[in-house]
Amino acid sequence: MLILGIETSCDETAAAVVTDNKEILSNVVLSQVAEHQPYGGVVPEIAARSHLDHIDSVIDKALKDAGVTLAELDAITATGGPGLIGGVIVGVMTGKALASVAGKPFIAVNHLEGHALTARLTDDVPFPFLLLLVSGGHCQFLAVEDVGRYHRLGGTVDDALGEAFDKTAKILGMPYPGGPAVEKMARDGNEKAYNFPVPMKGREGCDFSFSGLKTAVRLKAEELVELTEKHKADICASFQHTAAESLTDRTRNAIATFLKLYPNGKHFVLAGGVAANQYLRGRLSSVINEYGLSLVAPPLALCTDNAAMIAWAGLERFKRGMVDGLDFEPRARWPLAS
Ligand code: KG4
Ligand code: ZN
Repeated sequence: MLILGIETSCDETAAAVVTDNKEILSNVVLSQVAEHQPYGGVVPEIAARSHLDHIDSVIDKALKDAGVTLAELDAITATGGPGLIGGVIVGVMTGKALASVAGKPFIAVNHLEGHALTARLTDDVPFPFLLLLVSGGHCQFLAVEDVGRYHRLGGTVDDALGEAFDKTAKILGMPYPGGPAVEKMARDGNEKAYNFPVPMKGREGCDFSFSGLKTAVRLKAEELVELTEKHKADICASFQHTAAESLTDRTRNAIATFLKLYPNGKHFVLAGGVAANQYLRGRLSSVINEYGLSLVAPPLALCTDNAAMIAWAGLERFKRGMVDGLDFEPRARWPLAS
């Protein structure tokens, strides 16, 4: 079985071909970072136009890299949301047009489901599993019961963690996207240098909050006035350490809740762009092991946005007969859990 995936919900134009043998035959990701960098974040209108300019050649390359033709595909999938609507429209319209021309089924995939199911592509993880999805736009714990069946255990009440990384970088005058830059800078810093309050620590449930931490970073940066490289490294390290303290505290509660609901659950899956962070992976893995769960985190290239995850989620849907019509409407908002 051969599935084409298309991803255009944020600032990557991506296409990939995946098989039911869990082979990624191609995985083309064209990043728009350079186009958005002057503005310190993603500009939706620029993103939509750029997707439109590049989608055809990205899909063409994905098919060529995989050595397959449109006619050989079993289905075409595209991210149907949630995301920046201009980009989502480009991906969905292109997917539908190809499906219509080639006479293939079309499947609209929830971007978050793409992140959620990646661990089944890379690591054969069985249902149910506990998922921590941490990206630029999302931060939540979900019990993944099956394809299309998600139970939300908790989530952020304000900012996503990736957003906090990006804002910290911006405050410190570092380039967008901030996550990788902050992680790198933090390696040279002292994580005990600044004592930021740990969000939600000791509270019941497994919600997150990161806007207070972002404010604490801003106030510290203002207080220091002239930021040296040492100051910046110490702020990055302290920020990352505080975020990890909060993540691990919340994770303990989430695991306890998950195991009460699903005593046979064995896996904890980390997904989304922030899952690329090695420090956070390390901190989480010790907590997860304490509870006897195994941590599964996809390889870095499959943590950040890509189309292989969309093709795979589409394949899982296709195998279950979950196909969409050409009347599917792109969605800016699309919660995963019902
Ligand atoms: O999943 P993703 O590619 O796009 C969304 O769906 O949001 O995640 C992007 C987010 C950005 O906020 C970026 O700064 C963050 O993931 N990120 C990281 C790292 N790499 C990417 N955050 C922390 N450490 C990293 N190494
Ligand atoms: Zn994403």
